[in-house]
Amino acid sequence: MARILTTLLAGIFPLLVYSQALSDLTCEYKVNPLGIGTENPRFSWKFVSGGENITQKAFEIRIARSESDLSRGRNLFWNSGKIASDQSVNIAYSGTGSLSSATRYFWQVRAWTNETKPGPWSSTAWFETGLTPSDWSAEWIEPGLEEDIHNSPPSPMLRSEFELKGKILSARLYITAHGLYEAHINGQRVGEDLFTPGWTSYNKRLQYQIYDITPMLKQGNNAIGITLGDGWYRGFLVWQNHRNTYGEKLGALAQIEVRYTNGKTVRFSTDNGWKTSTGAILASDIYNGETYDAREEKTGWSLPGYNDTNWKPVSVAIHPKNHLIAQVGPPVRRMEEIAPVSIFKTPKGETVVDFGQNMVGWVKLTAAGQAGTRITLYHAEVLDKEGNFYTDNLRAATQKNEYILKGNGTETFEPHFTFQGFRYVKVEGFPGTITKDNLTGVVIHSAMAPTGNFSCSDSLLNQLQHNIQWGQKGNFVDVPTDCPQRDERLGWTGDAQVFARTAAFNMDVAAFYTKWLGDVAADQTPEGAVPYVIPQVLRAKDVGSAGWADAAVIIPWTVYLTYGDIRILENQYPSMKAWVDFMARGAGEDNLWDTVFTFGDWLFYSVQDDRDGTSAITDKVLIKQAFFAYSTELLIKTAAVIGKKEDVEKYSRLLTSVKEAFRREFVTPSGRLVSNSQTAYVLALNFDLLPESQRAAAAKRLVDNIRSYKNHLTTGFLGTPYLCHVLSRFGYEDVAYDLLMQETYPSWLYPVKMGATTIWERWDGIRPDGTFQNVGMNSFNHYAYGAIGDWMYQHIAGIQIDPNTPGYKKSVIRPRPGSGLTQATGKLQTMYGELSSSWKLEGGKFTLSVTIPPNTTATVFLPKTGEEEKREVGSGTYTFSYDWQYSRILLLCTKISFSWQLFFFWQTVVPLPKRKILITATGVITWAIRGVPIILRSIRLLLTMSASFR
Ligand code: BGC
Repeated sequence: MARILTTLLAGIFPLLVYSQALSDLTCEYKVNPLGIGTENPRFSWKFVSGGENITQKAFEIRIARSESDLSRGRNLFWNSGKIASDQSVNIAYSGTGSLSSATRYFWQVRAWTNETKPGPWSSTAWFETGLTPSDWSAEWIEPGLEEDIHNSPPSPMLRSEFELKGKILSARLYITAHGLYEAHINGQRVGEDLFTPGWTSYNKRLQYQIYDITPMLKQGNNAIGITLGDGWYRGFLVWQNHRNTYGEKLGALAQIEVRYTNGKTVRFSTDNGWKTSTGAILASDIYNGETYDAREEKTGWSLPGYNDTNWKPVSVAIHPKNHLIAQVGPPVRRMEEIAPVSIFKTPKGETVVDFGQNMVGWVKLTAAGQAGTRITLYHAEVLDKEGNFYTDNLRAATQKNEYILKGNGTETFEPHFTFQGFRYVKVEGFPGTITKDNLTGVVIHSAMAPTGNFSCSDSLLNQLQHNIQWGQKGNFVDVPTDCPQRDERLGWTGDAQVFARTAAFNMDVAAFYTKWLGDVAADQTPEGAVPYVIPQVLRAKDVGSAGWADAAVIIPWTVYLTYGDIRILENQYPSMKAWVDFMARGAGEDNLWDTVFTFGDWLFYSVQDDRDGTSAITDKVLIKQAFFAYSTELLIKTAAVIGKKEDVEKYSRLLTSVKEAFRREFVTPSGRLVSNSQTAYVLALNFDLLPESQRAAAAKRLVDNIRSYKNHLTTGFLGTPYLCHVLSRFGYEDVAYDLLMQETYPSWLYPVKMGATTIWERWDGIRPDGTFQNVGMNSFNHYAYGAIGDWMYQHIAGIQIDPNTPGYKKSVIRPRPGSGLTQATGKLQTMYGELSSSWKLEGGKFTLSVTIPPNTTATVFLPKTGEEEKREVGSGTYTFSYDWQYSRILLLCTKISFSWQLFFFWQTVVPLPKRKILITATGVITWAIRGVPIILRSIRLLLTMSASFR
């Protein structure tokens, strides 16, 4: 008996504790963030256990100023007490005391998964607050060197020394710049972040970074050096050789706070005692690359005791400090390295290195040679038809890095304030024979954790997913950009909007978009119009394009759905509302909005327009009205979530009128749209603009249109993201698959077949005959059409959000096998842990395995013929397996035999004379209603099934 009890307890007790153990503590989406700008930061945690049906019943958070106080539970800054709640994501600090600036707080949490016993306290996490504007005593300093600001001048260097007279307990560097900066202390680079302080609407919001520099300092003399780069601030930006967008002078603002072990603190700041000079970086520009003359290096310049007598004094400048904000998004970092695949000579005789992947970053170069030897690296995405190096599509961006050797053995070079978009590198001037060991591709992007994975039994689709992910890496460099290589690389709102849902599957984009949306709001015009690009660097009038400006509404909503983040809706609400109000004012009394320019269904397929009544052209006013309705609808949903009841009513009335205006203007009484294009039907259906009674026919028209193009899409930026979703929603999963699996132009797989390793800007960036599309606009790394990724996760793998319980607190698993696929897997790291759905069709059996993270639930739809089977599950791992053909065939047989029975019933019970008439009539009717569709469906099924087992 005793043995049985012990065994039982040993089995149960760890389970109880284990099921409640917590991990992965984050604050504002970050692990131990150094520099929190918000007054009431939010905390999230995960349950360690993968056990079944784990639900949090309550939690308790405690915060202290020291780790030891926290672990002993004394001198607590805040103790939430036991709070009955199933929320484990984004719980806001709600204590009465205000958080002090520049202070580290330690926190932990425990949870109850049953009513009585709490789980163990989690391990300790921390967050550190940033500075308030009044904490800044540092002065802006500017190099004041003579510079040619119409070209890229040498990068200024700034230096100073300071003495520490006590034992150091801790030290922080608070730093930002006009332009980009790299800081060094005592000869060492500070931190690993690149392109700091990042790109924001500089005049309204300028980020600063915080670094823990304790281990870099020593008692006695210390030195700090800062190198500045032109960057987005004053480098070449936007086309037509435009530069000095935000100002003509670079500058730095830095403050070092040191705390001695005796409790005293000292501060060293940028001031007029600093000195300046230039060094090895002769020019460095985001578009054009860097020229680095190693002979000009100022060895030891950031070490104490360096002789800077020839350096010039800096000048102190007056700039506001109240727009300084602690870093919001993830920093840009070096994320991976790629080795060259081959080195070859082109027909023209150029030496070219192939990295096998269109990537964004730069090449790390290693070489040895005589002093003064100049090595030039040119970067290109593609080779031309003949196999020669091709850079015409880069337009004015030269993407050229030059390194001049100092000649003392093996030298290594990496550029500082520039990045390139490339797969191929042309090398000139290399001393000796170049080998693969001389070059390494360094991939950079915003350091977002990878969250999603999609794979399936089709290698082309897997390559498409690969291309989508690389498109995301290359275009998430501090702001979401259109492309990373030509003289553009801007935060195009339309591109960002169409890709946001896919992006949120592949990577953790919460903090990244939070930062960018702050700039969206900051750069919106007083009238509420949203600029084409954010940060706004185009002309003041370049605002308000439908489908672009709607990013202000669509992206906050996407972040809310993905992460359950209500605060982003609260913060962005004025911006979202201002945009909808802008459209409403423009629409006036008839509620038909047609006041500003729109890019329309950008880059749609336009070769064979208006053929047999089928067209790819979509009326731009129709597009405007569709997005007007959609943004209004999302605003209503937002208002409901954040409790703005009056707005819900007000905008619901507006939405009704906007939809009425849409129907009046663009829909015939029988439900035909003025534009018979795929995009027109997709938008009308996806945004619910048609009355219920007209939707099925409209979906059929969309299908007919697709079939008339022989299963090719003709959509541009605005229609593409919703195309397959609409087909799935209206029961045309097979058509969606036909489009997705299409290998000829225009289609998603055409570029894949052409060897693409990223998503192209155009459906036919390289034509079937190997020639290029319009050189003025032909990027090979443009994520917009990668928006199909969202459908692949949602419908092939079957991972969906339940919009009523967002953030995957409740998810929907609903895979839809089709088109010969025999296996698919989707995995997603949600805020609660890993959610996965994996299915396979093998030996006539369908098997679905799902993992639902702790503290969440899911509705699982098992794909079957006819009605799907629905199961409600809690957390845990489940496998469902059943006969695939049989389930379909059995259902079919039942239906067929039912029809026959009905038919014979009429024959036997009805008297003969009437029967003759009735038999004929009912027979026809029965067959029409039951039989014909069944036969048609069975033919379709058999075809699909035979395709499934090809
Ligand atoms: C960009 C696009 C952008 C568009 C506006 C282009 O130059 O590369 O992706 O959305 O302009 O139509």
